[in-house]
Amino acid sequence: MTTSSIPGYRLGDTTLPKSPLTKDDLATLKTTLLFGDADVAALRQAHGVVEDQVEAILDVWYGFVGSTPHLLAYFSDAKTHQPLDAYLDAVRKRFGQWILDTCRADYDEAWLAWQDEIGRRHHRSGKNRTDGVSAAPHIPMRYVLALAVPISVTMKPFLAKKGHASAEVEAMHAAWSKAVLLQAILWSRPYAREGDF
Ligand code: HEM
Repeated sequence: MTTSSIPGYRLGDTTLPKSPLTKDDLATLKTTLLFGDADVAALRQAHGVVEDQVEAILDVWYGFVGSTPHLLAYFSDAKTHQPLDAYLDAVRKRFGQWILDTCRADYDEAWLAWQDEIGRRHHRSGKNRTDGVSAAPHIPMRYVLALAVPISVTMKPFLAKKGHASAEVEAMHAAWSKAVLLQAILWSRPYAREGDF
């Protein structure tokens, strides 16, 4: 797994706090999601399919968030409620890298620590700090979990674009959807009371 030169992108950064989740905790969570080796392989295949479509995918997702006022609010100044373009752009770069890293994740300790950090960045314990902005300070957990649906559904046409058999597209899409939900669940940790996650 590479460390990225994108500002604020910290997968592989050994100075991140360690996740309290063990590899065994992750393994049982993956089992619960029916996320197995075939999904890991399908995601690897999806990497090659989406690699040159990242900007088009981001256009769809940003189009949705940008046209949905209650979501755009979290990219907007807390006082003036004006969207913060520099913040939207900075997060977009990390989001693009995240798409590729979701397809080639190796689920090690560094990956778990990065998931914990992304969770904090949606929660009041870490939001806005990476970019030094004064946007709305906290994204409610219900939206973080709910956004897993649009982020999953909208991926299918991109996975189907390179002429793969429909069974392969289905397998890549199922794996992608599970991988997004897996991460959204991991990101909900800061929202749970100590001992409840
Ligand atoms: C950050 C994905 C839910 C708003 C990020 C990042 C990713 C991501 C990959 C980049 C990490 C970073 O900036 O360091 C997702 C996924 C979601 C989800 C896959 C659901 C499954 C939401 C929701 C909102 C949101 C519901 C509300 C609009 C943001 C914001 C940041 C961010 C504002 C930057 C946070 C900061 O560091 O200040 N998200 N996100 N996300 N996301 Fe999400």
